[in-house]
Amino acid sequence: MKILLLGGGGREHAFAWKISQSPLCKKLYIAPGNAGTATCGENVALDIEDNGALHNFIVAHAIGMVVVGPEAPLVNGVWNYLHKMPGTSHVAVIGPSMQGARLEGSKSYAKRFMAEFGIPAASYREFVAAKPDDAVNYIRKKARVPIVLKADGLAAGKGVVICQDKETAVAELQDMLGGKFGEASRKVVIEEFLSGIEFSVFVLTDGESYKILPVAKDYKRIGERDTGPNTGGMGAVSPPPFVNEVMMKKVEERIIRPTIRGLKKRGIEYQGFIFIGLISVDGEPFVIEYNVRMGDPETEVVLPRLKNDLVELFIAVKERRLAGVTIETDERAAATIILASGGYPGGYPKGKTITGLGTAGDSIVFHAGTKNSGGKLLTNGGRVLAVTSLGKTFRDAIAISNKNAAAIEFEGKYFRGDIGFDL
Ligand code: AMP
Ligand code: GLY
Repeated sequence: MKILLLGGGGREHAFAWKISQSPLCKKLYIAPGNAGTATCGENVALDIEDNGALHNFIVAHAIGMVVVGPEAPLVNGVWNYLHKMPGTSHVAVIGPSMQGARLEGSKSYAKRFMAEFGIPAASYREFVAAKPDDAVNYIRKKARVPIVLKADGLAAGKGVVICQDKETAVAELQDMLGGKFGEASRKVVIEEFLSGIEFSVFVLTDGESYKILPVAKDYKRIGERDTGPNTGGMGAVSPPPFVNEVMMKKVEERIIRPTIRGLKKRGIEYQGFIFIGLISVDGEPFVIEYNVRMGDPETEVVLPRLKNDLVELFIAVKERRLAGVTIETDERAAATIILASGGYPGGYPKGKTITGLGTAGDSIVFHAGTKNSGGKLLTNGGRVLAVTSLGKTFRDAIAISNKNAAAIEFEGKYFRGDIGFDL
């Protein structure tokens, strides 16, 4: 089968690495990809949010499967478009329909979904730009600090703001409703603050049945000991040792099953990944957010621990045979450390020469923001490389990644040396 993978980050290099190991994959294209994915298949310059361009490419190259890395094409309806268009209605699209993608694309939709299906989450209220006074009154009179404000729509990972006092929250709320994140924040969800430790659960569903993939924990803050601004993720560990069988039983019964049931009840076409961002509050799991894709950098620790042929799993998803599949997991732990460009998550330079990859032989180095130019490997993004290692324990894995993170060089390189500090 010929496969088209959408995206160009570390997650997509991990997907490309895993897909290209499958004898079922005859040819892999990655749009737009990066210097790492180019070693697993052929990069193609396609606008992944242009459904018409994707359709033309899929028809012209007889693509049988599309694997969607990031959320934007899903929210943009790639599933629906390919499904209804002649020549692509048979193509397996790994990712939900536009309706399913609302679980990530609209916080308000996700909150209502969870309330309807009894899924544990922070209590909330929602407010719209047309009635800002309602929201201000709510914050001044009812809300308890810290106050969690969430832009309803996609805001490039910046749409959640946690305010420590009411007046800061009022000012932030007015900015949001006033269009700080464009249309995405014309509606705002105000949530109860939950205190606990976070982890990520990944579910693959064919719409009927589901399988749980290895659990992970990511590190979102730029600074060591979880300080400074949020990033896309600076490292990850799988499995997080505090997520035991008792916890996973609660997650499956209280969260995963009702989620799948809810999707079916609403008649939502969903054949793809569900990423459930969870927080354990005194041992009880609550949903922080849904994403309709895999996490980045979590994929860089989840896929190296997955022993199954990924393409075989995707075909089972397409044919709704997932119930008959057994997920096989490598018992070793995995860790990944992100090498970022100096300045990230703010502004940063690009085009810095990367050296020392050859010495990282006991790690798998996934590329995130890289490109080849004139025979050189150059930085091309905020997150540049993900250095993944496997070890008997997560501490062994982290030690190997730390050693190799130190040996790889580019000007301005930054990484957190404390991944796993809280475990
Ligand atoms: P999100 O963009 O939804 O992933 O939220 C970003 C981060 O904000 C999460 O990873 C949490 O650390 C934090 N967060 C979101 N909602 C809450 C909440 N209700 N209570 C505490 N922290 C939260
Ligand atoms: N690592 C978090 C995310 O992918 O959203």
